[in-house]
Amino acid sequence: MIPFNKPYLTGNERACIDEVLRNGRFAGNGVFSKKCAAWLEERLQCAGAILVPSGTAALEMMMILANIGPGDEVILPSFTFSSTANAVVLRGATPVFVDVRPDTMNIDENLIEEAITFRTKALCPVYYAGVACDMEAVGALAKRHGLLILADAAQAIGSEYKGQPLCSYGHMAALSFHETKNIHCGEGGALLINDPAFLERAEIIMEKGTDRSKFFRGEVDKYSWVDLGSSFLVSEITAAFLYAQLECAEEIIRRRVEIWDRYYRDLEPLERAGKLRRPLPVEGCVHNGHIFWILLNDAATRDHLIYALKERGIGAVFHYVPLHNAPMGSRFSAHSLPVSEDYAARLLRLPLYYELAHEEITCIVKSLESALP
Ligand SMILES: Cc1ncc(COP(=O)(O)O)c(C=O)c1O
Repeated sequence: MIPFNKPYLTGNERACIDEVLRNGRFAGNGVFSKKCAAWLEERLQCAGAILVPSGTAALEMMMILANIGPGDEVILPSFTFSSTANAVVLRGATPVFVDVRPDTMNIDENLIEEAITFRTKALCPVYYAGVACDMEAVGALAKRHGLLILADAAQAIGSEYKGQPLCSYGHMAALSFHETKNIHCGEGGALLINDPAFLERAEIIMEKGTDRSKFFRGEVDKYSWVDLGSSFLVSEITAAFLYAQLECAEEIIRRRVEIWDRYYRDLEPLERAGKLRRPLPVEGCVHNGHIFWILLNDAATRDHLIYALKERGIGAVFHYVPLHNAPMGSRFSAHSLPVSEDYAARLLRLPLYYELAHEEITCIVKSLESALP
């Protein structure tokens, strides 16, 4: 059996969790939460990092912090997870879906401007497979129209763009540490704040709308309810697990990229034979080996491959159903988005995890060769 994903354990998780048990402090904002935040701030070059219970929570907190509200519109790709759009809808705002580029499956920057109206408040690029959008074009549009860039970087830890951490682009970015991600803690996430103007209020929103953090630092003599908020904190046990992973992030990402490169090399003959298409390299982007996807010639071939590989014990899976076509998404959009619709139906993700052996990659490639019509 070769599963689609196998969450990796570094072997240090237990020691870090044992330290929490010895310390006897389990609630949020403890020693390990602070260590994780410091790691993220330094490596991803953001002004502040806040550990939260999931990538979904990071997106939701980001929308509160950005003051997204009723009447506002937020532009995002349709080819993404429901969480990106839910975070907008939960604020009473409207998600505006834009088509993706066929090379990256990321928002097509050439289609953004025509989607901007006087109601548009933010652009929400999604870094599919840890690959960058054209952030220079997105940045220029945001500047010209006075919009915020709120990035869904759920898959993008360790990716770079033009020599800078990809997560450091935009005003804020949301990371996921779900067990399917490169670095994980079962369920988890982080809100990365690049624009320091958002730091002070973030502390309050995270602490159920209170100024408790100021109280703990001795800056106020009591704390009270001062703003909107929720419980966006994570337990020290989760943070300890995550820290063990972060310490090994470089090695985990190195190995995933090695696997990605191996697929890329071994699938070249099938691409030359016109049977599939591999992802295209993106100028200026160093990706993190999060997903290896291939594009088949038609939806029937993709569906056949999922079944044929499963028969051989290999877990290969499709990805997002474009949101504008989903029952909830169609309430917000009546437009057709041809690339999202066509490509989502033909895209297949191959197994990719730290412990995937070279012989297993060879077996997957051989199985693709024999199963492809
Ligand atoms: C693009 C994107 N955004 C958001 C999320 C949500 O992250 P989480 O599962 O940590 O809530 C995911 C999860 O797969 C994702 O792929």
